Amino acid sequence: MKKKLLSLLLAVVCVVSMAACGSGNDSGSAGDSQSQAESSGTDDADAEDASGEDSGEGGKLVMATNAEFPPYEYHEGDEIVGIDAEIAAAIAEELGMTLEIEDMAFDSIITAVSGGKADMGLAGMTVDPDRQKNVNFSDTYAKAAQVIIVKEDSEIAGPDELAGKKIGVQLGTTGDIYAEDIEDAEVERYNKGMEAVQALQQDKIDAVVIDGEPAKVFVAENEGLKVLDEPLTEEEYAIAIAKDNDELLEKVNTALASLKDSGKLDEIVAKYISADE
Ligand code: ARG
Repeated sequence: MKKKLLSLLLAVVCVVSMAACGSGNDSGSAGDSQSQAESSGTDDADAEDASGEDSGEGGKLVMATNAEFPPYEYHEGDEIVGIDAEIAAAIAEELGMTLEIEDMAFDSIITAVSGGKADMGLAGMTVDPDRQKNVNFSDTYAKAAQVIIVKEDSEIAGPDELAGKKIGVQLGTTGDIYAEDIEDAEVERYNKGMEAVQALQQDKIDAVVIDGEPAKVFVAENEGLKVLDEPLTEEEYAIAIAKDNDELLEKVNTALASLKDSGKLDEIVAKYISADE
């Protein structure tokens, strides 16, 4: 009697457990569609929340950038290359993750990072208190400056002479923010720094305010322009990370520190910027 009860009980347990894992164990199409559903479910989670729980070992690390900013990020054929792209790749390697780069408008990067569409923003991005309301910044990895580009024969010789002038900037950059404060200046905002430089060449504007390293590249690539000696500001670049992602912030800072210690960071920079410039 007892035995019978036990086997009955066992049978019940079996039926229940089969039902529980039934859909997963179904053979054929039902099983396939389940695994498809599972994998597309994961994809959705990744898209919505590129960071969060998924950013563990072996996950992907999504970098938001604006690849119009040589030598930090720019297009070379189909590829996005530059100092930031290589730093991001080195960080991903340190963390055992796969780097994915998302190219977008510069003024979309903070939103992409704070909204979880990207894990981190690397875009020659200056640490700035307003931005810090929306994202956290890693330790800094480069010093930078806003400089002034003018035509070779320009009467503008320094920052004080920008008052009342037409100044071109890349939309949403610190150059945009500073130009805004220049007395009586008319600020022309372009989607790309290069477009501002072309406008200068065509005499549509009087000067361009932009970061020092891209300024050097743009002046070298375009006839008749020069960078003024005196910079407008001094700034530092860091990596933007979502406010709620302290885990990644810590990991990125650790990886950055190790890239600084090993000399790898200097090596990357030296590949794109020659010291004797
Ligand atoms: N450093 C400046 C800023 O943070 C300009 C950065 C522009 N970067 C770019 N990838 N377009 O506003």
